Amino acid sequence: MSIGTESPKMRRLRRFALAAIITNIGIVITGGAVRITGSGLGCPTWPRCDEDSFIPRAGGEHTTWQTAIEFGNRLLTFVVLGAAIAVFVQVRRTRPHTRTVEVLTWGLPIGILAQVVLGGITVLTGLSPYTVAAHFLVSMVLISIAVALHERVRPTDGHPPASTGIRHATTALAVVGFIVLILGTITTGAGPHGGDLAAPRFGIDIRLIAIAHADAVWMLVGLTVGLVAVTWRSGPPRLRSALRILLVVELLQGAIGYTQYALGVPQLLVGLHIVGAAVMWAVLSAAWIRARPVPTAMADAGGTGSVAGEASVPEGPIAQDVPPTVRPDVTTPR
Ligand code: HEM
Repeated sequence: MSIGTESPKMRRLRRFALAAIITNIGIVITGGAVRITGSGLGCPTWPRCDEDSFIPRAGGEHTTWQTAIEFGNRLLTFVVLGAAIAVFVQVRRTRPHTRTVEVLTWGLPIGILAQVVLGGITVLTGLSPYTVAAHFLVSMVLISIAVALHERVRPTDGHPPASTGIRHATTALAVVGFIVLILGTITTGAGPHGGDLAAPRFGIDIRLIAIAHADAVWMLVGLTVGLVAVTWRSGPPRLRSALRILLVVELLQGAIGYTQYALGVPQLLVGLHIVGAAVMWAVLSAAWIRARPVPTAMADAGGTGSVAGEASVPEGPIAQDVPPTVRPDVTTPR
């Protein structure tokens, strides 16, 4: 397949990967809604909703709304898992793929199952801020995996990859971006929105940690401005557009952050800040991966492997990007 074209099967795979991105961002937002509406213990136990039932029943300690929000969030797990399974199956239908794609495909269902367990531990610990933070950060990793998959199964634009310097700078961007997320979750753990009035809190001053969080944001914005400037006229076009969108999202998100801080973290702005964090991380992940060369099968396999036969190369991106004589992760017919 040539640059820029896509078979129907590959198009379906790309759409499933997009669904994985959207559902993972979606569950982060509904998880945020659970927290800011104080519904974290709307189902007070796990895996059952209460001691005797898997589904909510009237008459508990929490309002019907709180129970519905928490239980609805639990049910959304199946939608997220559904998208991950669709990607998994479609990757198998469109083989061969690079090893990167194969590994990433396993990452989604494994990560979601880990989130099911972590979500359960969060409830059973009475919404410990440590597990709430971990739950959020694992979702960010899942968003990165889904974005990476989406980028790696779409047709290449044939543009040469970014320079080594830019690649290193995007890695620094990702590290600082993740530090911003970690500090954000600690700020949340020190703040009033724990998901339940009785939820334990980090015993630290929210002002101090919010300042550290905002300082890291300034570093992130500085790095992004630098990368936007360096790639302004050159560099891969997809990377350029991701970096520009990233800068806009960071500035909007920073404005929301300062406003919510000044107004004493009102629920609506806290909710918008969660949406902004998930979207920013998705765009940053896309920028990171777009700065990297599309792995050929040879590079992906560490430069070793057998030579593929023409007959075993049907659909996947390997067939799109790499001449058949250098597809070592495709089994050789003997
Ligand atoms: C790129 C910019 C930013 C990103 C990606 C970001 C990300 C985050 C994240 C991930 C959280 C935790 C959400 C959660 O655990 O549910 C958070 C919380 C918070 N952030 Fe930011 N943030 C940014 C900018 C800012 C700025 C500039 C401020 C200003 C001080 C700020 C103030 C806060 C506050 C006060 C919280 C706690 C909200 C709560 O009580 O739940 N953020 N942020």
